[in-house]
Amino acid sequence: MVITDIYDLERLARKRLPKSIYTYFANGGYEEETLRRNIADLRKFVLVPHVLNDVSERSIEGTMAGMRVSMPVGLAPVGACGLSYPNAEVEAALAAKEAGVPFCLSTVSIATIEDVARATRAPFWFQLYLMKDKKVGEALVERAKQAGVSAIVLSMDLHVRSQRHGEQKRGIGAPPRVDLTNIVDALVHFRWLLSMVRSKRRTFGNLIGLVPHAKNVGKVTEWLEEQFDPTLSTKDIDWARNVWPHKLLVKGVLSADDAKQCFDHGADGIIVSNHGGRQVDGAVSTVSVLAEIVDAVGGRGDVIVDSGIRSGVDVLKMLALGATGCLIGRAYVYGLSANGREGVQKALSIIRKELDQNMALCGLTNLKNIPRDIIRVQEGAELRNPAIHF
Ligand SMILES: Cc1cc2nc3c(=O)[nH]c(=O)nc-3n(C[C@H](O)[C@H](O)[C@H](O)COP(=O)(O)O)c2cc1C
Repeated sequence: MVITDIYDLERLARKRLPKSIYTYFANGGYEEETLRRNIADLRKFVLVPHVLNDVSERSIEGTMAGMRVSMPVGLAPVGACGLSYPNAEVEAALAAKEAGVPFCLSTVSIATIEDVARATRAPFWFQLYLMKDKKVGEALVERAKQAGVSAIVLSMDLHVRSQRHGEQKRGIGAPPRVDLTNIVDALVHFRWLLSMVRSKRRTFGNLIGLVPHAKNVGKVTEWLEEQFDPTLSTKDIDWARNVWPHKLLVKGVLSADDAKQCFDHGADGIIVSNHGGRQVDGAVSTVSVLAEIVDAVGGRGDVIVDSGIRSGVDVLKMLALGATGCLIGRAYVYGLSANGREGVQKALSIIRKELDQNMALCGLTNLKNIPRDIIRVQEGAELRNPAIHF
C-alpha cells in the first residue's frame, strides 16, 4: 500500500489492532460530536495563498516551550499508548528525538519516565494528572526532575472522566472486561498479539510502587477511576509552579479567561485542547477559539494547540491563527499502531512535507508572524470530512 496521508496510517492501524484497542484510541466522548467538530471546523477555515513571493529559501523550524524544534509539531500525551505496539512510548519518543520534535509522556503510560529517559538520553515532556492522593503527584514530579524532563504538562481537563460509549460497549473500563468477544478479537489479530510479547511492561508503569496493586491492571484501573480529582483549580497550577522549576504548560484550556489565569498563576504556556474530543461532548473545537485565546494572552508565553490535527495543512492553519506550535495525538498513534517507531517517523514525515509544501504554496518562507489575512472562515467548507472512524 502506498501511504500518502495520516488516514492511510489509520487504515493500517485499524487492520492491525484488535477492535477494542482501535476503539480506545479512535473514539470520543458520548456521541462524539466534539470529535467530529474538531475535524470539521478545521476544514471550515480556508487558506488564501499569496502567490507573488519567492519561496525558494524557507524554514519550518520553530521553538516550543523553549526547545528548538525542526517543526512546531510535538507528540501529545496518550495514556495506555503501550497497547498499540511493544514498548510504544519508548519507540515514539525515539522517533520524536530523531525528528527533532518534542515528545510528551502521559502519567498513565505503560513505559515509565525512567524507561523513556534511559532510551532517549534527551529532554522530553511529562504530562501530569493530579490525583486525590497528593503523594502520587509529588513523587512523579520528583522523578521527572531526576529524569531530566524539560517541561511538565499539567492537564486540567479531567476533574472526572467522561463516558466513551465505544469503550464501554467493548468492555474497556475499570476493570477491563475479559470475555469471549475480546479474546476472539485478540486472537484474530494475532500479529498484534504475538508482537506484544516483546512488551517490557503490562500495566501503568509510572504507578508501580506508588499505588496499591499497581501490577494488577484491573485493580489499578479501578483505583484510577476513583482518583481523578474534582477539586482541580488554579491552586494546583500554583502548587505545580512551586515545585517545578522548569517549563510549565497547562493543558486543556478552551476559554480566553482560563488562558489568562494560567499565565497569572505562573504557567509558561498553555495547550488549547479539548482532549481530542474525549471529554466534554458538545465542547467547542480548538481551532474555533484559538485566535481569541492568542489575542487574550498577548504574547505572554507559548500557545500550543491540539485536537483534530491530521495533516500539515491543519498545522499551517493553527499557526496562521497564532499558535506557537501544535501537538498531534491520534495522528502519531495510528503510525505507531501500524508500524512502531517507523510508523511514527512516517506520520511526522507526512506532516512535515505537507506543512513545508503548503507553506510554500501560500507564499510563506517561515512560520513566524504569518499574516492573518492568509486564513478565513468559509461556511460549508467542512462538508468533506474524510475521518474514517465515522
Ligand atoms: C487514546 C488517547 C489517550 C489520551 N490520554 C491522554 C492522557 O493520558 N493525558 C492527556 O493529557 N491527554 C490525553 N489524551 C489527549 C491528547 O493528549 C491530545 O489532547 C489529543 O489526542 C489531541 O487530539 P487528536 O488525537 O485529535 O490529535 C489522550 C488522547 C487519546 C486519543
